[in-house]
Amino acid sequence: MSYVVLTNREREELVDLFFRLRHLGEKYPLAQEEAQTALRCLKAIHSNAIEDKAVDRIFLQVLMHGAGVPDKSKISRYYGAASFELRGQEAVLRWLEEEAKKKQPFSISMILEMHRLIFKDSIPDMAGKFRETDVRISGMVHVPPQSYQVPEALQQHISGINDELLNIEVKDEESFLDVIRISAQMHYLIANVHPFEDGNGRVARAAGNYAMLLHDFYYDVIMTDYRDVYLDSLESSTWADTSPIFHFLEYSYLETLRRISGFFNLIGRDG
Ligand SMILES: Nc1ncnc2c1ncn2[C@@H]1O[C@H](COP(=O)(O)OP(=O)(O)OP(=O)(O)O)[C@@H](O)[C@H]1O
Ligand SMILES: [Mg+2]
Repeated sequence: MSYVVLTNREREELVDLFFRLRHLGEKYPLAQEEAQTALRCLKAIHSNAIEDKAVDRIFLQVLMHGAGVPDKSKISRYYGAASFELRGQEAVLRWLEEEAKKKQPFSISMILEMHRLIFKDSIPDMAGKFRETDVRISGMVHVPPQSYQVPEALQQHISGINDELLNIEVKDEESFLDVIRISAQMHYLIANVHPFEDGNGRVARAAGNYAMLLHDFYYDVIMTDYRDVYLDSLESSTWADTSPIFHFLEYSYLETLRRISGFFNLIGRDG
């Protein structure tokens, strides 16, 4: 098992970049909206492509643009479903942005609604419903709880998460890292409990971002290129110690923020 940890200098860069981009976002709200839209699209594509080798991200880009053959199911039923799920993923992120504006707490009903929004058109019978069977995660030692334990396993951690999440004021390095730490816990909670038959990774990656959206952060995009270190970081985490997934998210967020920083430099040139 291997996972990534930022050096002190990289962590300093992450924190500086976050506060600099937040300041620029407040100064240039249209640029902020554009950057968040770009990241939402990128996240939807990468969150869907991370596991599925059959539908490469180049095809997901075609789907995202609504380009190419109008009815994708005529090419393949599977490709048609991928199209629905990509749109569902984008819709769920938009929905979470709205929930974040209303400062809604994280909850079981939010987790179910995220799943429903992603899968309502591709697997309507399973969308928004917890699994009724026991599951294993292929290639992993971790065994998720039995199906009857799912609601309780989630609920056990949700109130603790909300107590912290809703009370942070992001003003310095410590409070910034607190949001990433809680985001890692929310992500891990869903990945670890594996409440659904399928789609747990996609819901987990969206749920983790809810912590960030609540505090007006830009999205974090987990690029498909990091799939192996990402999965290792989940497998190496435990409830007593979620630092592997936390460190992975720090690493991933630095890359995400670097991607949009050039865009803000461009905007700054006008003034
Ligand atoms: N050892 C592990 N411990 C906790 N969570 C894990 C572990 N291994 C994998 N996961 C999570 O499970 C997800 C895969 O589950 P599932 O197939 O239900 O979801 P999915 O949305 O279809 O996922 P993906 O798009 O990543 O396949 C991974 O993306 C990851 O988030
Ligand atoms: Mg899957």
